[in-house]
Amino acid sequence: MEVIVADAAGFCMGVKRACQMAFQAAARQPGRVKSLGPIIHNPQLVAKLAAEGLEIAAEVDELEPGTAVLIRSHGVPPEVYERARELDLEIIDATCPLVRKAHRLTSRLAEEGYAVVIVGEPDHPEVRALKAYAGDGAHVVETPADVEALDDLGRIGVVAQTTQLLSDYQRLVGAMLAKAEELKAFNTICDATALRQQAAERLAAVVDAMIVVGGKNSANTTRLYQRCRDKLGLPAWHIETAEELDPSWFSGMQRLGVTAGASTPDWIIEAVVERLRTF
Ligand code: F3S
Repeated sequence: MEVIVADAAGFCMGVKRACQMAFQAAARQPGRVKSLGPIIHNPQLVAKLAAEGLEIAAEVDELEPGTAVLIRSHGVPPEVYERARELDLEIIDATCPLVRKAHRLTSRLAEEGYAVVIVGEPDHPEVRALKAYAGDGAHVVETPADVEALDDLGRIGVVAQTTQLLSDYQRLVGAMLAKAEELKAFNTICDATALRQQAAERLAAVVDAMIVVGGKNSANTTRLYQRCRDKLGLPAWHIETAEELDPSWFSGMQRLGVTAGASTPDWIIEAVVERLRTF
């Protein structure tokens, strides 16, 4: 059976950088560094890091003074940095540079007196951090109904969670015009998500089925899978590891496509491809 991997699949720049920083930190001071939440939504990689001595803390207050805290690519609110300094923690900051840029632009909008509106998932850690950079009273919208429910806000400043799709963002920003005298919108979207989706779509057009590799707890991997299955109408499976593959799924098929979310390490994708090629 022929196996083709999508030309954009797996780790994005920010996640790759964060994982490298995590492995380096664990090697340098095993047991003396904790990440604030799991470094990425991939259980296999988190387990590998745990085996190397990188533990997870839910709050900075769980760390002993003098140890190190690793901030993951999603970023954290400013008060987390302040608290880490108060506790005399070394800060290893793996916030994605594109997320940092979104923080800076959000702060700037708030300083310039705009009512800040964030387009994104309200409970996502990246959005919670953006909200903190916007100061008091920032709004989070995810759907046209959320925009409709906004009061007239006068001067609106808009930023997006980096993983939003540009077309959705454009639609919501357009709808916000009805709520504003002045509207200033920054494009804070990173193209990693769209590139993975577009590559999956191109591949889906020439294969019999798609395998989507990545954490079941990874939102971007799950969205990729749903897109292959629902929008592209192909048989598709979402797996975390090569061991989950079942040869009976592929009877009568000639060509398989493989894709993976931005939080899926290369070694897991390679193991999946290797096993598929034995079928
Ligand atoms: Fe950064 Fe984009 Fe990845 S914002 S963490 S490179 S999805």
